[in-house]
Amino acid sequence: MSIRLGDTAPDFTSESTEGTIQFHKWLGDSWGILFSHPADYTPVCTTELGTVAKLKDEFESRNVKVAGLSVDSIEDHKGWISDINETQNTEMNFPLIADPNRKVANLYDMIHPNALDNLTVRSVFVIGPDKKVKLTLTYPASTGRNFDELLRVIDSLQLTAQHSVATPANWKDGDDCIVVPALSDEEANEKFPKGFTSVKPYLRITPQPNK
Ligand code: BEZ
Repeated sequence: MSIRLGDTAPDFTSESTEGTIQFHKWLGDSWGILFSHPADYTPVCTTELGTVAKLKDEFESRNVKVAGLSVDSIEDHKGWISDINETQNTEMNFPLIADPNRKVANLYDMIHPNALDNLTVRSVFVIGPDKKVKLTLTYPASTGRNFDELLRVIDSLQLTAQHSVATPANWKDGDDCIVVPALSDEEANEKFPKGFTSVKPYLRITPQPNK
């Protein structure tokens, strides 16, 4: 069954390149990203994993733990990691889950047989500290994902969780934000000392609260 926003992220126990992972326990109070790639020793995946490794500090500063997954074995993962380190000029620093029996792939509906026979597509799940799914993405095998966009979405999700603001189209860190409709004008006045502008009663703009 497909996973929808607000669902509890399915829990699982699996082997990874950093040992056995009990997913919910491993996440702890962190935010999480679980992302699948179709297969080891493939070109697009090699660049993706190198890119994620280089973003370690960005994920850490946002309290996000990252795990990759494919249906290949631990032995394949370990061999491939040497290639990733060599060709992408980095050191892998997050776990790659081995899912040869497709247990996690099936739990998260990562196999789309009409797109890729028996392999996972490029799925992404962002999971909040409450273990609820906050974002899902599905990309085709031939298109590498934009991990800067994932960081941008996490910034937006964290602003909403902590400051009751939403973010407009093409928002970037530092841009103005939108007061969530659930807040009355009185509540917004209390919450946003920098004030807000009512363009329309339903469209209220405020400077990014944590800047
Ligand atoms: C890749 O990661 O390069 C890839 C994997 C499966 C199909 C096409 C490309």
